[in-house]
Amino acid sequence: MGGLRKVLFGSSLLTVALGSVAGCGQERLSPGAARGRQVYLAQCVACHAIDPSKPGPVGPAVKGASRELLEAKLLKGTYPPGYKPKRPTTIMPPQPQIAPDIAALADFLK
Ligand code: HEC
Repeated sequence: MGGLRKVLFGSSLLTVALGSVAGCGQERLSPGAARGRQVYLAQCVACHAIDPSKPGPVGPAVKGASRELLEAKLLKGTYPPGYKPKRPTTIMPPQPQIAPDIAALADFLK
């Protein structure tokens, strides 16, 4: 009896240990946000800062950009109705090829 108890106890410890290893990812990002980060680093940091909460070499900070704002700006080069742009310029080229990743980008930037 005592031996069996020891075995059970040992295996549950092992499960806990394995569980914490598996749960210990490098990043605390959801899969969507991780995808958004990839797209952002590939397509946006030429102008925006790597840290989206800071102004970049060309573009303003974009941290917190909503899905509506990203859709308007990236697909049409416009802003959602009533939105006050951070800059009066229209330098940023629309990037309609980003459309499938807008939700992921919004997830990363929020
Ligand atoms: C060629 C440079 C350039 C690239 C590349 C670029 N942007 Fe921009 N972005 C700008 C500039 C400059 C502005 C300021 C408005 C303007 O002049 O168009 C801006 C404005 C924005 C805004 C509006 C900010 C606000 O609140 O007024 C968002 C959101 C944004 N960019 C997101 C992105 C995302 C996401 C990407 C990548 C998919 C990207 N931009 C790629 C230059 C760029």
